[in-house]
Amino acid sequence: MMDKKVYIESYGCQMNVSDSEVVAGILAKQGYTPVDRPENADLVLLNTCSIRDKAEQTVLNRIDGLQHLKRKNRDLKLGVLGCMAERMREELLEKKQVVDLVVGPDAYRSLPGLLEEVGSGQKAVNVLLSREETYGELEPVRLGSNGITAFVTIMRGCDNMCAFCVVPFTRGRERSRDPRTIVEECRNLVEQGYREVTLLGQNVDSYRWNVDSRGDVKDPDQPVTDFADLLDQVARVSPLLRVRYSTSHPKDMTDKVLEVMARHPNICDYIHLPVQSGSSAVLERMNRGYTRAWYLDRIAAIRRILPQAAISTDIITGFCGETEEDHQQTLSLMEEVGYDMAYMFKYSERPKTLAARKYPDDVPDDVKGRRLQEVIDVQNKQSLARMQRYVGREQEVLIEGVSRRSAEHLFGRNSQNAAVIVPRTMPDGHDLRPGDLVRVTVSGATSGSLKAEPLAIVHRREPAPEPVGA
Ligand code: SAH
Ligand code: SF4
Ligand code: F3S
Repeated sequence: MMDKKVYIESYGCQMNVSDSEVVAGILAKQGYTPVDRPENADLVLLNTCSIRDKAEQTVLNRIDGLQHLKRKNRDLKLGVLGCMAERMREELLEKKQVVDLVVGPDAYRSLPGLLEEVGSGQKAVNVLLSREETYGELEPVRLGSNGITAFVTIMRGCDNMCAFCVVPFTRGRERSRDPRTIVEECRNLVEQGYREVTLLGQNVDSYRWNVDSRGDVKDPDQPVTDFADLLDQVARVSPLLRVRYSTSHPKDMTDKVLEVMARHPNICDYIHLPVQSGSSAVLERMNRGYTRAWYLDRIAAIRRILPQAAISTDIITGFCGETEEDHQQTLSLMEEVGYDMAYMFKYSERPKTLAARKYPDDVPDDVKGRRLQEVIDVQNKQSLARMQRYVGREQEVLIEGVSRRSAEHLFGRNSQNAAVIVPRTMPDGHDLRPGDLVRVTVSGATSGSLKAEPLAIVHRREPAPEPVGA
């Protein structure tokens, strides 16, 4: 087979990172090896995001920026994958003449055929969404991996129709992946030396396998598996494998899931529970399916069942009709919960969504921006306070790689997902290395990371992993 080179760049959420690895797996069978610079590639793929207008503008600029490569290498092909392929296929093919290939998130199996069309000088498109596709049995090729942590997609699509959100339009209907293929993938990862998986879905709490859309059992010989069951199965793969997941949905998060987390020490004490707004009136217009009181009840359940857990969230400022009073409620909810971390955004209207059709985008941009800054200020204070509570305490840290700031320091995470920086050399002269699970004492904190002194290696991965990256 001819040796060809593919360069894949991922934008947007972790799902796209995971999808790019599925794509690399499909292309590996066609003789493509991944490279880490577009200059060295025969095929450049951008796996794109539509979540906010800015995300799309970034990719459109990137496409323009790649034009010169095609002038230098006439055989180079450029493809757009992912959510923008789904939402903007016409614009991409008409306005961006340099784009040869447009493939939506459910159509990656058709890439070999599409690449043949592209090879004969045509443009190729497939943006069909599917009700079944989960790429369940396909073997991903890990891209730019540290060899220690990996993403595993457990479901695709979303049925929630939050009023602001484009995902149901770009990713289609929700479907769950066969748990046997998920457990198998996790087993393989452990064998290859991986020490942490993050299970991915837009709403993991609605994971349900072996039931049809009416709720009837599909295969009577197989059990019905919900997210708590799946989490339990993955946690049993190996006590050495740390398990994380994202994203929980407040309307669906059950105590059963929290209890499974409490039972397994290798399931990390970390929950990402996006709230979006602290005002019940705004949540109602957002079609989120819960109120402020319901959300706070879910937080209370986490604090009760998993008292050590860190909680993070997503917040949107300036959604349609958001008043100053609504905004104050978001700030007060943040004070009440005390999040460890938050992703915070200005509302960006997305074509075709419920909000775009039903509500005017009536909060002026400068007001959205000012509210965003107030939300960020509250969060910075809280992140710092939450991080400071680790100081003086012992923690277990999985070392992932070398610190970005200093070659003499390594970087890892504690169970609560806080970044921890430790010196490479232990007091006894031994060097730590990626893959080590280390007991440390935390000696300092900023709002973004912890500083710690290593005490002992709890578990060392043998043999030592191949060094990755430069
Ligand atoms: N499935 C996840 C969210 C996926 S999108 C969930 O339901 O929580 C990630 C985050 O992007 C969302 O939580 C939301 O805070 C933000 N987001 C989504 N659409 C947006 C929009 N139109 N404008 C601004 N932020 C948006
Ligand atoms: Fe979007 Fe809501 Fe689905 Fe999350 S749950 S992906 S915000 S529609
Ligand atoms: Fe973006 Fe699509 Fe993920 S819109 S956030 S890449 S699902």
